[in-house]
Amino acid sequence: MDKGIIYMDNAATTWPKPPQVMEAMERCMREAAANPGRGGHRMAVQASRVLFEGRKALAKLFRVGNPNDIAFALNTTHALNMALAGWLRAGDHVVTTSIEHNSVRRPLEAMKRKLGLNVTYVGTDAQGRLDPRKVREAIRSETRLIALGHSSNLLGTIAPVGEIGEIARKHGVKLLVDAAQSAGVLDLDVEAMGIDMLAFPGHKGLLGPQGTGGLYIHPDLDLEPLMHGGTGSKSEAPEQPAVRPDRYEAGTPNTVGIAGLAAGVKFVLEQTPRRIHERELALTRRLMEGLEAIPGVKLLGPGIAEERTAIVSFLTEGADPSEIAFRLDREFGIAVRAGYHCTPLGHESAGTTETGAVRASPGYFTTESEIASLIEAVRELSGHGVKHN
Ligand code: ALA
Repeated sequence: MDKGIIYMDNAATTWPKPPQVMEAMERCMREAAANPGRGGHRMAVQASRVLFEGRKALAKLFRVGNPNDIAFALNTTHALNMALAGWLRAGDHVVTTSIEHNSVRRPLEAMKRKLGLNVTYVGTDAQGRLDPRKVREAIRSETRLIALGHSSNLLGTIAPVGEIGEIARKHGVKLLVDAAQSAGVLDLDVEAMGIDMLAFPGHKGLLGPQGTGGLYIHPDLDLEPLMHGGTGSKSEAPEQPAVRPDRYEAGTPNTVGIAGLAAGVKFVLEQTPRRIHERELALTRRLMEGLEAIPGVKLLGPGIAEERTAIVSFLTEGADPSEIAFRLDREFGIAVRAGYHCTPLGHESAGTTETGAVRASPGYFTTESEIASLIEAVRELSGHGVKHN
């Protein structure tokens, strides 16, 4: 299939989507796009079914016992804000890391200013590797949360979430995981990994549309809702109902988007995250090998032999990352992202605060020939291309 573009920005939003996703959205818009949970007419019931199907598929993927422990959200940022604002109180201490995305850092910094929250940023090495012992050492008596990304959106490094889950349990601290770069590609088992809250996007590895995502909340945790409003249930009560997921889902949801997300998750379950990750990792390694062989190109993040998600950030000697990204788009039809990737912390850790970086992120539908085209384009832009007469 000629996609008309070589799309290497899957870490931001995956594209293309499986045809089932578009079909499910169109079907939902035609047949079931009424208000779920508000009204007993058949179309409202059908809309509720769409949401439940999505919850069920997500519960299967993350090994969540009760699908109602998953609340839908607009995106990972929204889900992270639900978790942080819902759980933390004035004077609490939070342990997080030095490579977090702004979606974790900014809400924490805002709560620091407003509530006097205390935050410790545990350092990683320049490749983004996190030593779980440092997390353990950062825990204090008033620590109520460890919040960390499963995989860095700048470096692709994978955090040892299972080990940190054990540490959290042992110290009676809750664990919030930002699965923005891992949902759908890395194994996620909330019970086995000791995850109390899991924030995930719908539009990345789960192959759904933008405007979808969610938060898994352990059944023993009662978060204060981020938003209060209509739920269609217990309408006579002035307060938000206790029943899940209504407690955390005020207002009309994105039913059509969730229909697409459910189809994306079903596709992921059929293919299996393991197979998706293996394919993406093979493409990522091929890209890293090709780029590394170009004089003046410097790759960021863990080495080729190490596990990582499909993220390859790099610098080219003597050229600004934004210029490389601009020329890749204009001259070669290749879409990558450049700049600071919403993670100034990550750039500090990687030592690239002055430069930012170019980030190429292949996806499940990327082909080997697209990888070869990107390598060749970067070679040409670096002044080392094969001369064609
Ligand atoms: N968080 C997304 C990214 O890393 C948007 O590009």
